[in-house]
Amino acid sequence: MTTMKAMRLHAYGGPEVLAFEEAPRPQAGAGEVVVRVHAAGVNPLDWKVRAGHVKAWLQHKLPLIPGWDVSGVVEAVAPGETAVKVGDAVYGMLDFERDGAYAEYVAARALILALKPNSIDFTQGAAVPLASLTAWQSLFEVARLQSGQAVLIHGGAGGVGHFAVQFAKWRGARVIATASAANESFLRELGADEVIDYRSTKFEKAVHDVDVVLDTIGGDAQLRSWQVLRRGGILVATLGISSPEAARDRGVRGEGILVHPDATQLGQIAALIDEGTVKPAVAKVLPLAEASRAHELSQTGHVRGKIVLQVRG
Ligand SMILES: NC(=O)c1ccc[n+]([C@@H]2O[C@H](COP(=O)([O-])OP(=O)(O)OC[C@H]3O[C@@H](n4cnc5c(N)ncnc54)[C@H](OP(=O)(O)O)[C@@H]3O)[C@@H](O)[C@H]2O)c1
Repeated sequence: MTTMKAMRLHAYGGPEVLAFEEAPRPQAGAGEVVVRVHAAGVNPLDWKVRAGHVKAWLQHKLPLIPGWDVSGVVEAVAPGETAVKVGDAVYGMLDFERDGAYAEYVAARALILALKPNSIDFTQGAAVPLASLTAWQSLFEVARLQSGQAVLIHGGAGGVGHFAVQFAKWRGARVIATASAANESFLRELGADEVIDYRSTKFEKAVHDVDVVLDTIGGDAQLRSWQVLRRGGILVATLGISSPEAARDRGVRGEGILVHPDATQLGQIAALIDEGTVKPAVAKVLPLAEASRAHELSQTGHVRGKIVLQVRG
């Protein structure tokens, strides 16, 4: 078999540019493996790429297979590669500048894959990598969140936010999250100490002197966040820092983050999942053929947790 079913885009545009078609089956290059995809996680990055919003930054060759979260089984391994073996159940965040996981098979660097947590299925596994790595790296690599500190998480119910709430709680922080009222009980169950309904309450009136803000929303939410930080505190933003001077003026720091693959961190996250400390929330599972519907849902900006595309089984 030299071809496979894949969801590809031949041009940037709306959800309708996604075409479910035959595509060449990938081979494992040096240091790589081929994964038989069971499920592909959906992230806002997927529709931003599809729409051409990030083409100045990520120079993709078209036609492109999107989807940079995968779970599946290792099908083939390049000679001499030992990080994983044929038959391993793996999950991972794929390199952004190449074809992704909206397909029956994907080639990936072996070093960026980790063993899938045993306690969750492939569907849940695909919900984890990109969003959880973003939360982990924001809180622990950039902000160096410590036990006893207070963290405000904007977008607590989203893909990144719902992992961040659980990681921060596990670290022993006091966790405050913003979300709409419908997500309050969801976030409390994940460990949030306080949930602020951003539609009815100005968070800057309710929160002050936090050590860390994790901003997954940007815009006005970011501009109003500088005042809730204690002096010396830090805001980490997944959508960049719009006014670094505002941070400087208040004696706080602002850092943008760009998530990077890290199999060691995925191993640590798998352990937290297997011991029951962290749970991925999957709001919607759709067949691969309905990727355009998944993009429409993601683009609403109001998904609770994650959307996953089922590729196999
Ligand atoms: N730089 C990086 O490396 C990186 C990595 C990952 C993600 N990102 C970016 O970070 C952003 C978040 O990613 P994600 O995967 O978490 O997105 P997501 O899952 O689509 O986020 C949806 C969530 O946002 C919440 N929300 C919407 N407006 C809000 C507001 N004004 N205040 C508080 N919550 C609000 C919604 O809750 P309600 O329904 O309750 O409103 C919903 O649960 C995206 O733009 C993504 O592209 C960047």
